[in-house]
Amino acid sequence: MSSTPLDRVVAGFADRFGHRPDGVWSAPGRVNLIGEHTDYNEGFVLPFAIDQRTYVALALRPDRRARVASEGFDEDAEISLDDLGPTSVSGWSAYPLGTAWALGRVGGDLREVAGFDAYFVSEVPTGAGLSSSAALECSLAVALNDSWKLGLDGTTLVRAAQLAENEVVGAPTGILDQSASLLTERDAALFLDCRDATSRNVPLGLEDAGLGVLVIDTRVTHAHAGGGYASRRASCEAAASALGVSALRDVAVADLDAARAVLDDETFRRARHIVTENQRVLDTVEVLGTTGATGIGELLVASHASMRDDFEISVPELDLAVTTAMDAGAIGARMTGGGFGGSAIALVRTEVADEIGDRVTRAFAEHGFTPPRIFTVTPSAGARREQEQHSR
Ligand code: GLA
Repeated sequence: MSSTPLDRVVAGFADRFGHRPDGVWSAPGRVNLIGEHTDYNEGFVLPFAIDQRTYVALALRPDRRARVASEGFDEDAEISLDDLGPTSVSGWSAYPLGTAWALGRVGGDLREVAGFDAYFVSEVPTGAGLSSSAALECSLAVALNDSWKLGLDGTTLVRAAQLAENEVVGAPTGILDQSASLLTERDAALFLDCRDATSRNVPLGLEDAGLGVLVIDTRVTHAHAGGGYASRRASCEAAASALGVSALRDVAVADLDAARAVLDDETFRRARHIVTENQRVLDTVEVLGTTGATGIGELLVASHASMRDDFEISVPELDLAVTTAMDAGAIGARMTGGGFGGSAIALVRTEVADEIGDRVTRAFAEHGFTPPRIFTVTPSAGARREQEQHSR
């Protein structure tokens, strides 16, 4: 078996479908540097794409059948494009086939397009809070946008992938993950305003500063179709409505004292997380532009505390990862993603990265927790078509 994911996706495609793909596309997973649960509150986020990607080899077919298969899942799925709908697909194939359906909903004309065969190979760990599902959706979104010559821009592809996640998979998530996977540039984080979906890439300059980002996957699995995520979203909507604004984005830190009088304690704390987190994203962008990444540590730690105490989406494993990394000399650390498990990130000087990782591993063992999976990630480019020589 060949080793690179590019080789595997081409070989796997030929093996499964008996012919060659037209091309290979890929989309990355992400970590969110800061700005958690702010996306569906029309606020700000600052994710970056990681170097772990999902690859899709795809070929158009002469008929209207759509077939999807994956190295990571046993079950293949097949459906006619004429039957695609939010309830006609299920299991892992809901992500890619849901995306194919959603492209038709955001402006793509799918009435005349050809069917396709698609085979996926993913390096993005699943259940780790690194947006393996967005990588799956976005890889197919760019592949079909090119192959079907739909001419949709990145922001529209984001909406298609989000629609697949919301309407087909049934997870009420925002646009953070798909935007990170589709729109981010190398060595940069994507500063995204989720109200109007405008964004710009903010250089991180990690390598020049001698910094790296450790991902500490706690192996505590999370699922966003589950209750915690939806209930946090409902609290935010309740808070916005009680405060008379269309979204918590419209509440400033200075308004919080007045908000306390209107909201019950729990709803107030949920809202306070969102309001202060939005401010922390703005502050982080500012510090990145002046001091650089070495200056953002306190903001990361404050973000974690807010998620732990106010939004209550952390778990003991994430808290231990953060406090141990900080004690061991990290510049900043916080849980990343939706919460209730998944991963923490630690911003570290590269020369002490291994030592910090070892300290976290030891602390997990001392607490009797499942050993974490720890690796470094490099801020990478968003979704793209891979070099032609790889697909031939
Ligand atoms: C998950 C969702 C995102 C976002 C984050 C929390 O990753 O998919 O839309 O809400 O949680 O910031």
